[in-house]
Amino acid sequence: MLRENIPDLADLELVAAVAEKAVRAKQLLRDVARDYAPVVFANSLGAEDMVLTDMIWSERLAIGIFSLDTGRLPAETYELIARAEAHYQRRIEIYAPRHDAVQDCIGAHGINGFYDSVAARKACCQARKIEPLQRALAGKQAWITGLRSAQSPTRDKLKPVAFDHANGLVKISPLADWSEREVWVYLRANKVPYNALHDRNFPSIGCAPCTRAVQAGEDVRAGRWWWETPETKECGLHLVDGKLQRVAKPEVGADGTAAA
Ligand code: ADX
Ligand code: SF4
Repeated sequence: MLRENIPDLADLELVAAVAEKAVRAKQLLRDVARDYAPVVFANSLGAEDMVLTDMIWSERLAIGIFSLDTGRLPAETYELIARAEAHYQRRIEIYAPRHDAVQDCIGAHGINGFYDSVAARKACCQARKIEPLQRALAGKQAWITGLRSAQSPTRDKLKPVAFDHANGLVKISPLADWSEREVWVYLRANKVPYNALHDRNFPSIGCAPCTRAVQAGEDVRAGRWWWETPETKECGLHLVDGKLQRVAKPEVGADGTAAA
């Protein structure tokens, strides 16, 4: 969200509506922690993920939190990891890529080869994100993400509860129907730490070389892999069966409630 558009808290109706949505999201998290243990939350430290971090850690839910440290994250994201850990007095589990996979990718495509072709970019995301994600999800029954349906055309059919066929477990997106504005109301109302880059017009933050600021009027993911077309702009964390996922198959309660 551009800084000048960040909502203030004077709109009491909006604040109350967000508080109500937050109650529902927390209930979903509680149900998932109870019914799908072991469950983990994939935390990119973006604005949405800080909402979920706050919900999980302030409610002391039995949900492990991990981050994929690609080795190319912006300094501000590492700084936020440390700040969030100090704020909540908890640790985020960090998954690093395999050094041999990263070395092979750099050997084949060059240190910044991701700018040269979609294939090289996907190879980099595979080594630095997808393989570590698979390790982080091994043995888990469900994972939680901060995806919102309004983020991009590839996410418009997102459901809060779906089955992730690519990874073989339930995928929960408690903020699926939240707007960016609602995310920021929650962060401000609850004084949640957030990435300093958001104040510099970075609504969506990934790896440093693949993320830039957006201009007024551009969509929230315009600064991610900006040299590619919108249809290719997914790193593969949220693909199903190796394809761009437009509709995740609902497994349990597509209304957002987990099965008992
Ligand atoms: S991405 O696929 O384009 O990188 P995006 O940045 O929008 O994804 O984040 C969507 C969700 O993917 C996040 O809410 C988070 O659950 C997960 N995610 C993305 N990047 C990471 C990361 N580095 N570590 C852990 N989870 C991540
Ligand atoms: Fe590599 Fe860029 Fe993908 Fe990060 S986002 S893993 S640097 S291609």
